[in-house]
Amino acid sequence: MIASFILTAIPAFIAHNFEDGGPFANVRSTRGRIAIHFALKFSRGLRNPLNMSSVLSLSCPNASYTSATTTLFALALIGNKDYRAQIRPSISTSDDRALLEEYFEGAVGLAKLRVNPPHLTPLFRHTTPSYNMPEIYPGEVAYITGAASGIGKALALRLVGQGGRVVIADVNGEAGAKFATELNEKAGSVVSISVKADTTVWEEQLAGFQLAVETFKRIDYVFANAGVAERPWLPPFDPAAAASRPLTKPNLSTADINLTGQLYTAALALQTFERQEPSEQSGFRGKLIMTASVFGFFPTRAMPMYAASKAGIVHFMRSAAEYYADKNITVNAIAPNLIDTGIAPDVLFVPFREQNLLSDIQLVLDQFQKLLGNSTLNGQALSISQANVWAHPPDTYKLAENLPACDLISVEIFKLFGDKTK
Ligand SMILES: NC(=O)c1ccc[n+]([C@@H]2O[C@H](COP(=O)([O-])OP(=O)(O)OC[C@H]3O[C@@H](n4cnc5c(N)ncnc54)[C@H](O)[C@@H]3O)[C@@H](O)[C@H]2O)c1
Repeated sequence: MIASFILTAIPAFIAHNFEDGGPFANVRSTRGRIAIHFALKFSRGLRNPLNMSSVLSLSCPNASYTSATTTLFALALIGNKDYRAQIRPSISTSDDRALLEEYFEGAVGLAKLRVNPPHLTPLFRHTTPSYNMPEIYPGEVAYITGAASGIGKALALRLVGQGGRVVIADVNGEAGAKFATELNEKAGSVVSISVKADTTVWEEQLAGFQLAVETFKRIDYVFANAGVAERPWLPPFDPAAAASRPLTKPNLSTADINLTGQLYTAALALQTFERQEPSEQSGFRGKLIMTASVFGFFPTRAMPMYAASKAGIVHFMRSAAEYYADKNITVNAIAPNLIDTGIAPDVLFVPFREQNLLSDIQLVLDQFQKLLGNSTLNGQALSISQANVWAHPPDTYKLAENLPACDLISVEIFKLFGDKTK
């Protein structure tokens, strides 16, 4: 037990000294990031049932020093049943509070999954003060791609319900226009406009953004959400026909829509945000939220194009979040598992319904909502799988070994391209 505490106290102390105290994903200084690396390495040495990725998923992304320290101490306590009752996370902000609560619940789940020790059940029984979920401020404007159906449509409904105004951007112009009209009729005022825009066509997206700014004067949120399911990139291999068939050019349309399309949306969002003053209500110039997927983290043999594009979104999001962090702009992503929407034919959902493996769309919307208003969350991939929600941690394998060169590469590239802001 004493050894456990010593081993935990050292990394906790190191973690305590993050230079900027910001989200783990956004710790910028080499020293701070190396400190995290070693803290996690030490933590792995503890005889507890959690591995390194669990350590990260326990850590609060918007962490105050206290949360980081609590996390590391908690790991030692997990391995020691005598101390389970003593875990009382000390939380500084409302964002921390909600997320930490979820992580702790997740940690219990993970621990159970791995070793199933009976003493873990009451481990993190703690009281959490009530948490006011951030909301869109009245009159704020959200531009949502793929808003004529599924997640985007449900999100638009929720935001209008909170007093926001929405731009319904979709390649399905008819459904988008019908939905916008319904929203306006219900509200009795213009709370919505629609634009027919294929996200893979730059000019169409540009026209959509121009119309939105012309109509509403600014855009506070952009949700790069439009996407499709896997479209097979290669025909299945048939050894009998292979000799007579030429090598086939792949169909990359999944990546065109899910990656290139979302990057066009991101490019328009970030440039629009940079050109407008911070909002008096939220203090932010704007917030970009991208729809990724759990397949942005986990490989899937059936959907290589989908996985590649969603992983691209996650990594772009984390990189852009670092770049724009000091410009009053946040960049985050939502990464759901399977949700019952129009993305696939109904027959695909049947076995998932039977086995209770679908995630509730309202829980997905809750994760979007955590990023609204004055939330300072940045660089986060908020994930949803059935009833589980977590902030998926960035990969830190061999981070310490790579950081000096990676950081210098950034400095030199900014010099080369003349970016005076970095
Ligand atoms: N449903 C899920 O299980 C699930 C899980 C994880 C992530 N996602 C992601 O959520 C996002 C929304 O999907 P959904 O489940 O709501 O699906 P959906 O099919 O119900 O809605 C997608 C909308 O995007 C629009 N769209 C498709 N291609 C477009 C394009 N090129 N330009 C403009 N609009 C286009 C469609 O017309 C549709 O209205 C996608 O990025 C998807 O990959 C979905």
